[in-house]
Amino acid sequence: MCGIIGYSGTGNADELIIEGLHALEYRGYDSAGMTVFTKNGLKTIKTKGRVGDLESKAKTMFLENSHCGIGHTRWATHGKPSESNAHPHGTDNIMLVHNGIIENYKEIAEELRKKGYGFASETDTEVAAKLIDLKLKETGEKLSAIREAVKILQGSYAFGIVFRDETDVVYAVKKDSPLLIGIGSDGNFIASDVSAFLKYTKSYIRLGDGETAVIKQDKTEVFDLDGNSVEKQVETALWNSSAVSKSGFRHFMLKEIFEEPEILIKTLDSITKDFHPDFSATIPDDKFFENIGTIHIIACGTAMHAGLLGKYYIEKFARIPVAVEVASEFRYNDPVLRENDMVVIISQSGETADSLAALRLVNEKNIRTLSIVNTYGSTIARESKHVIYTLAGPEIAVASTKAFSVQVLVMLILAMKLGEIQGEMTKDESTELCESLKEVAANSIHNVLCGTETIESAAEITAKHNDVFFIGRGIDNYLGMEASLKLKEISYIHSEAYAAGELKHGTISLIEEGTPVIAIATDEKYYEKMRNNIEEVRSRGAFVISFCSENAEIIKNSSNIAITIPNDADCLKPLTAAASIQLFAYYTALALGRDIDKPRNLAKSVTVE
Ligand code: G6P
Repeated sequence: MCGIIGYSGTGNADELIIEGLHALEYRGYDSAGMTVFTKNGLKTIKTKGRVGDLESKAKTMFLENSHCGIGHTRWATHGKPSESNAHPHGTDNIMLVHNGIIENYKEIAEELRKKGYGFASETDTEVAAKLIDLKLKETGEKLSAIREAVKILQGSYAFGIVFRDETDVVYAVKKDSPLLIGIGSDGNFIASDVSAFLKYTKSYIRLGDGETAVIKQDKTEVFDLDGNSVEKQVETALWNSSAVSKSGFRHFMLKEIFEEPEILIKTLDSITKDFHPDFSATIPDDKFFENIGTIHIIACGTAMHAGLLGKYYIEKFARIPVAVEVASEFRYNDPVLRENDMVVIISQSGETADSLAALRLVNEKNIRTLSIVNTYGSTIARESKHVIYTLAGPEIAVASTKAFSVQVLVMLILAMKLGEIQGEMTKDESTELCESLKEVAANSIHNVLCGTETIESAAEITAKHNDVFFIGRGIDNYLGMEASLKLKEISYIHSEAYAAGELKHGTISLIEEGTPVIAIATDEKYYEKMRNNIEEVRSRGAFVISFCSENAEIIKNSSNIAITIPNDADCLKPLTAAASIQLFAYYTALALGRDIDKPRNLAKSVTVE
């Protein structure tokens, strides 16, 4: 949560910082601020609201000749979104931006109060800034002051720091929150992720936990905990700056849904060979997939829903029991993990605090682990023994779409691999599915993207209601959970997803005249049962919108509106239906005029517990 940036170079620091903050805004967007060195001294500007508001405010200030500074876009954890709680925080000597949480800030604040410090905000960050100020007074040396201060801090942090008397230097230090140093030709950056400086450089260094960095216009130095200089490997970002632009689409979310055919094929090619599952690039020895007791899939949010679809596929194709667990619960539930179990962590960002904590817990127990991650070099990717990358490219919209689709694809191919190993799936069956997958991505999903009229009409009707229910059976139940989450996230309409057979055990009492009930019915096995469930709610006044296959005549005939997807193999239809339900959420939010890419209260990368 929160995005930080720092810059020292020949460019206009205020403009580059604002530009970088716009790219980082997916990490949090309730308030923003920056501190820059100008020819009139150090200037700090803060605002409640978006980076756009900060930009407007900055235009009214005299910031000429600013070549160095730090900036922040916030997702509030300590203290409500307000100008006083917005970063940077500091003293006359030092200003600081922070991504993370300082757990012992109250105790430290007490100590600082005794030494005469006061606090103007409710944040943990201000305490960290003032602690460094104190240490600077004690040690008289900046790097020592930072190192002494972080020895006291507990929690997670990535700090960007400037000192009043060094007008062209940004200092950085981190623990458990990501921080990169962008190496440019006209200046250097620090940032929470590459998107903040991708327009200027693709070269970057990844700062390690406990390392401090000194960033100047023409030079970057990194030191370890003892103050020894560290040689860091310069990495090259794989994404282009066009990947983080809207490319003519009205919203990132829409652009990202439209990318699904291409990224599905790309990811499929990376994990199959000659139309067979092939993970040998990551896991050369097939023993990894043998003799598995239970598979535990651990993730948060949308990634957890991809895990649920994975459970369906693995149990169907490989007959191995799968437990899907929310990472925030798993980590504290004293999980029962047996020697021959396998843990699969799924994460788009690779930085989600709860998923990372779950991985660390599993790593301690020495259980075989596999992570499915979208972001190269992210913490989960680096700390996992085995990583399969989903090749979705950067996902900017807070509501996850394309990342979900490729996560589902990877789970499907993994299930096929396990099915082959278990002898539950023949090579011919898996070849046939792999061949069909290309068709699904290239044609079926493409067709859904090209014909959205019915989805848009259904969305307009849904947008007029406050409550919506999703029903489905089997894999469609899991898809309904994701559809419901997507709708809630971006339209703010209350919605709940139910196993279709379960609605009548209580929740059906909430159905009133006109309540939209969205029936997901892609699996032919359940058409009859779903039709009965649709009749049950319609006879109580529900307005039924169904997402079903073209051949599902009984579903179409019993629904008020039917949104159809092509008749592919049942197990592949969820990939097409995913695009359809994502578009439905998108158009509903559009009809309501919501801020689709940055829905209220949310953040994309949840690096706090
Ligand atoms: C946040 C995002 C969700 C995402 C979840 C897990 O809640 O808003 O879209 O699904 O985190 O994120 P991860 O990066 O681990 O997949």
